[in-house]
Amino acid sequence: MPLTVTDIDFVRDLVVKQSGNILRTGQSDLIESRLAPIAKNAGLANVEQLIAELKRSRSPRLSDQVAQAVTVNETSFFRDVHPFNALRSRIIPDIMKENAARRDLKIWCAASSSGQEPYTLAMVIREHFPTLSDWNVRILATDISEKMLDKCRSGQYSQLEVNRGLPARNLVRFFDRSGSVWTTKQELQNLIDFQKLNLTTAWPLTTQFDVIFIRNVLIYFDQKTKAEILSRALRLLRPNGYLFIGSAETVIGLGLPLEREEIDGTICYRHANR
Ligand SMILES: C[S@@+](CC[C@H](N)C(=O)[O-])C[C@H]1O[C@@H](n2cnc3c(N)ncnc32)[C@H](O)[C@@H]1O
Repeated sequence: MPLTVTDIDFVRDLVVKQSGNILRTGQSDLIESRLAPIAKNAGLANVEQLIAELKRSRSPRLSDQVAQAVTVNETSFFRDVHPFNALRSRIIPDIMKENAARRDLKIWCAASSSGQEPYTLAMVIREHFPTLSDWNVRILATDISEKMLDKCRSGQYSQLEVNRGLPARNLVRFFDRSGSVWTTKQELQNLIDFQKLNLTTAWPLTTQFDVIFIRNVLIYFDQKTKAEILSRALRLLRPNGYLFIGSAETVIGLGLPLEREEIDGTICYRHANR
């Protein structure tokens, strides 16, 4: 039996409260298919029973699982390519001059999904900046989804995934192959820390970052949530740092102290009045 409108509305409300994600109407099939394994793991007969259990117990653990399950995890290596060109041609060289005395480079990838984005950042650094090998370079990759973080940590990708956006020379240099599975080499994995972080709750972060990527996740939030997340991110961005959002995302109307800059075909944002 299909889910009732009341059940779907209940799930949509729960997801907004848990993760800020606004599910579009007409996503009942997605809700049903993503929640079925959670129902099964919890020993419940079906998704209707899972929803009944959530209504009854308000279990934080089950609620979190539901919010994680309905996230959209679409990503690819070198997605939109221009941000990575800008990092290579201008941004990292400028940061290297700026940070020459303390010799550190900190990047935060704030919705890392299955890891293609942080591994792309690691490849850009290792391929084009050999002098950074004795710097303290850290990429923090965070996501709300533990399933995605497990995949990030494994560094394992299918043939289909490596066929999307990854240049052949990077595949050869930075991956090991075992049958149809490609695994990122240790030299990339060593640069990245993976951590669960929900952008709509408290962030256990004190680090200041030179570059922050919050790409292709803002589209799932309302304006107020978007503004809050970006203004908190700005507090973690070093004075001369760079913020990237997705190419289909905008900061227009959010009233944030940001200056827009175009570098090598991409738009990024910097502190206004820095
Ligand atoms: C479409 S992917 C974007 C991946 C990557 N940034 C890119 O541009 O290719 C969106 C990611 O945001 C994560 N996400 C959604 N809501 C979140 C939240 N409240 N906190 C942290 N991550 C969230 C999802 O789990 C998903 O992996």
